[in-house]
Amino acid sequence: MHQATGLESMLRALAERHGRPPASAPAPAPAQGLANPPRRRCRTIAVAGGKGGVGKTTVSVNLGMSLAMAGREVILLDADMGLANIDVLLGLTPTRHIGHLLDGSCGIEDLLLPAPHGLKIVPAGSGTRRLAQLGNGEQAAVIRAFDDLVAPPDYLLVDTAAGLSDNVAMFAAAADDVLLVVCDEPASLTDAYALLKVLSRDFGVRRFRMVANMVRTLGEGRQLHQKLARVCDRFLDVALEFMGHVPSDERLRQAIRRQSAVVDLWPSSRSGQAFKQLAGAVDTWGEPERLGLDRIAFFSRQAAAATGW
Ligand SMILES: Nc1ncnc2c1ncn2[C@@H]1O[C@H](COP(=O)(O)OP(=O)(O)O)[C@@H](O)[C@H]1O
Ligand SMILES: [Mg+2]
Repeated sequence: MHQATGLESMLRALAERHGRPPASAPAPAPAQGLANPPRRRCRTIAVAGGKGGVGKTTVSVNLGMSLAMAGREVILLDADMGLANIDVLLGLTPTRHIGHLLDGSCGIEDLLLPAPHGLKIVPAGSGTRRLAQLGNGEQAAVIRAFDDLVAPPDYLLVDTAAGLSDNVAMFAAAADDVLLVVCDEPASLTDAYALLKVLSRDFGVRRFRMVANMVRTLGEGRQLHQKLARVCDRFLDVALEFMGHVPSDERLRQAIRRQSAVVDLWPSSRSGQAFKQLAGAVDTWGEPERLGLDRIAFFSRQAAAATGW
């Protein structure tokens, strides 16, 4: 069952680390390609969805690469431990993964695996049962390891696993934002709702964003959002903001078969353009709200150093 109490105390303990005295640091250099100046601190976005196969990994990879193509520093953490989707999706062959970090044989910097356009991947181990069942302490250690990065990126995207495990809940609750990927299938809607419920009830997350994946039109995407938003309004005290849609696109499937991101191979395809738009929208998000348990950001130390926060 869900171990809300244990997780809550761990999250609180992590939150206390935000109470560090501020330090000053030079402002980062402006990025090319997007209208806004780079973020003043790392923004952590958990990509979640409840159900498997709805496009979480696809969205994580293509959103991350779109942001990187626009000049942002982006790290993508494969938090689907034990399955290592992202390596395979991008045709990468990592020699080290999270398991090595946990057994102390390498540090977080050694794990950063270069992908096209400057995107960096933190790979999950593949086929490792132990990693698929990380304990809460191990998961906190993974989160804490990001404090050791020499330079925090503009964005840390976290591609979460399917389901409602503590694993997923903790990564989602620890992030600044949760981006839900939903497609037009009853099980996607019910699983997304279940995830919203757990995250709001047990972790005080009140604000979510949603992208409609594999729909035909923007209108269909909006309808899907309205379906979920209506039940949220009725039964949960959460806000669900619509971020746009990614069309079902054969080009995207072809890119997957070629082990590449569609935004890299065919940036002007329908899905490629949708991801570019999504990246532009993400880059205009205001500062994250800090509610409930006090939202935990990864990179707390660097965040404080970079912003005086
Ligand atoms: N927008 C899309 N258009 C076409 N196919 C898609 C799209 N998004 C996802 N898919 C298909 O769905 C499959 C599962 O996507 P994936 O990102 O691995 O899901 P998840 O991470 O949620 O399990 C992909 O391999 C791809 O074939
Ligand atoms: Mg996945």
